[in-house]
Amino acid sequence: MNSFQLANESSPLSLTPNFILPEHKRPNLSQVTSLDSIPIIDLSYYDHNNNNPSSLEVVHNISKACEEFGFFQIVNHGVPEQVCNKMMKAITSLFELPPEEREHLSSTDYTKNVRLISYYLKVEGGEKVKMWSECFTHSWYPIDDIIHLLPEKIGTQYREAFTEYVKEIGSLVKRLLSLISIGLGLEEDFLFKKVGEQPRQRAQANFYPPCPDPELTMGLQEHTDLNALTVLLQSQVSGLQVNKDGKWISVPCIPNAFVINLADQIEVLSNGRYKSVLHRAVTNNVHARVSMAMFYGPNPNTTIGPIQELIDEEHPLKYRNYHFSEFLEEFFKQEGKRRLVKEAFELPR
Ligand code: OGA
Ligand code: NI
Repeated sequence: MNSFQLANESSPLSLTPNFILPEHKRPNLSQVTSLDSIPIIDLSYYDHNNNNPSSLEVVHNISKACEEFGFFQIVNHGVPEQVCNKMMKAITSLFELPPEEREHLSSTDYTKNVRLISYYLKVEGGEKVKMWSECFTHSWYPIDDIIHLLPEKIGTQYREAFTEYVKEIGSLVKRLLSLISIGLGLEEDFLFKKVGEQPRQRAQANFYPPCPDPELTMGLQEHTDLNALTVLLQSQVSGLQVNKDGKWISVPCIPNAFVINLADQIEVLSNGRYKSVLHRAVTNNVHARVSMAMFYGPNPNTTIGPIQELIDEEHPLKYRNYHFSEFLEEFFKQEGKRRLVKEAFELPR
């Protein structure tokens, strides 16, 4: 049974005990700060064929954001606004359907390409506490293979929106990986090649209905993303928070911006120089919030480990090499816990 079978009825959802977190796992919203210095990168200042000062500054600012936060927002990124709006509308349509019309997609089998997930946290005593969200996940390609699984009413809309969206995000990811490579002092196409020719590309549409008491529950529990790079599009309702030096900071909603998260594979590849950002989503009691996360990562057969050029006396080898499939296995093994996956591949000091 889906957790939000009441989401579209006129009565508000009730915060039943299975959503209520133990006290020390609650978001503690009064302790969350907002920082003026949250990195925002204007990509229009980057001129690909030019070593001009503003291009170098873009690379420098991205590199700094990757070192300090593992996270930044981008504006003037070249993805047409209307492509993003269409994507958000399609996601909203999916989650506005009566829940029973998408319930058939619910599954706990993580080998399934297309599924609707209700995340949970396993607390002391093995009890599962549900997150206040519903997430729809599938691969980027080939989208036609999944459309017949969607409710007929929204299938065409979703396919059209996603087909345009994925094309844009594909080229954006390539651009970002080259800027990040240059920032690390590597060849421009280094990371793109490293992640490989058949990357693991997953999309996850997230839905957070208004919550009667945001202090008691969480939209998504704190985590780092397991892939290499995440491009997140969010509706103009705040909820995303990132952790810096142990403090939670709320990420402001900027119109026509993307949130870029560095994920675990970049942290490992960079030998710990760039951070995989710890983040979470909290709820609010007024507005529903939707977001679209586009995860880009290596193929399961790819070997991942710190890049040779980034290991030296000052930066000794921090992780062992592994097949990305091992990493995925470890990830799914930690289901429901506060995941510490890359830590399992750390070498002893
Ligand atoms: C995710 C994620 C945050 C958000 O899907 O991995 O972190 O704001 N989403 O929805
Ligand atoms: Ni995430």
